[in-house]
Amino acid sequence: MPILPLRYYGDPVLREKATCYEAVGDEVRRLAEDMAATMYAARGIGLAGNQIGIARRILVIDVSDDSPRARGESREPAANHNAEVYLNAEIVDSSVEDGDYNEGCLSIPGVEGNVWRPSRVRVTWMDLDGNKHDDWFDGMRARVLQHEIDHLDGVLFVDHLSMNDRKAIAGALNRLKQETQERLESESA
Ligand code: NI
Repeated sequence: MPILPLRYYGDPVLREKATCYEAVGDEVRRLAEDMAATMYAARGIGLAGNQIGIARRILVIDVSDDSPRARGESREPAANHNAEVYLNAEIVDSSVEDGDYNEGCLSIPGVEGNVWRPSRVRVTWMDLDGNKHDDWFDGMRARVLQHEIDHLDGVLFVDHLSMNDRKAIAGALNRLKQETQERLESESA
């Protein structure tokens, strides 16, 4: 299972709106496996299509207590993981009650920030068998799903920060953006 190269802050694909899947084929299932492996290798708890340069509505998360990250491991055997795959995920309702949490992102390494989000969200999505779902989530799953669905809409957690928090990380973001632009230019040269 190949580990896919991550896209970083400043890459235009992170600002694209991802498009829906009409149907599920082997290609999508393979992509989901590779995305899970990539997420575990990077010790993340979520990964969206845009973050590997594919602007399609696919995301994987693992918020379980025995995820490799929770256990302090860098990865876990693919056959044994608890990755959840959501296709075409959309938030269709959310609680008035909200909460804050210190978020990070695999595409924005070294940057963290406090983000307020609704505590509960109602999500519609399709699974890898093509079945459609509609359910409410809370806790960490609600938090991570909102972060990942934001990615599919071209939104990053830093967009949600307060003005003061944004000022505090502006330098780090500019450096990341510059690194990414230099990398993209050298790749296309
Ligand atoms: Ni992220």
